[in-house]
Amino acid sequence: MATPILSPSILAADFSRLGEQVRAVANADWIHVDIMDGHFVPNLSFGPDITKTVDKVTDQVLDVHLMIENPEQWVDSYIDAGADCVIFHVEATEDHVALAKHLRNKGVRAGFSLKPGTPIEPYLADLAHFDLVLVMSVEPGFGGQSFMPDQLEKVRILREAIDTNGLDILIEIDGGISEKTIESAAQAGCDAFVAGSAVYGKPDPAAAVEELRRLASV
Ligand code: DX5
Ligand code: ZN
Repeated sequence: MATPILSPSILAADFSRLGEQVRAVANADWIHVDIMDGHFVPNLSFGPDITKTVDKVTDQVLDVHLMIENPEQWVDSYIDAGADCVIFHVEATEDHVALAKHLRNKGVRAGFSLKPGTPIEPYLADLAHFDLVLVMSVEPGFGGQSFMPDQLEKVRILREAIDTNGLDILIEIDGGISEKTIESAAQAGCDAFVAGSAVYGKPDPAAAVEELRRLASV
């Protein structure tokens, strides 16, 4: 298996020193940026302006997770803000393939995410339009929740579909990833791992990234 991709979620960072907190995980591969609109999920985070300030302090891939309604209206703002990978929720759009095509035309990676209650099967036929699938292993909206192991079945189904069809798509997992859970996610077939509290809740975030990467190298 390829080296695991670690994507710390800045939702768990200290926003009063955001630049410093992003630089604290310079050894991570990507930076996960959680966008919440207070409608699609019952919480608000931040928008394109803060995303742009994060982009200014790092060259790392910005992995932007849009937990918002009407993603079609907003994706261009996040691309302009520096997103390298834009992930929208299939529950929030009528035409996930059209939106994926738009993202790729704009030169960014296209990703879709699913809430825990949303099955993966209806989307398997459309995988070739995407660069990444983000499997939620908590209900989106808040950091610090418990990992839902039953979501690994979705990862296994995806892994099988991707490998059988020789597709070039990454499987990323988000929610409750920690030293205790990351190994099982890696074994199920994940390539990329979001971790918020398991990185920023530690005194040394860079060391936490290193340890998670080691545990995911199965
Ligand atoms: C949840 C977000 C996650 C969250 C992960 O809605 O999408 O990215 O920040 O936080 P932890 O790793 O603490 O579960
Ligand atoms: Zn996220």
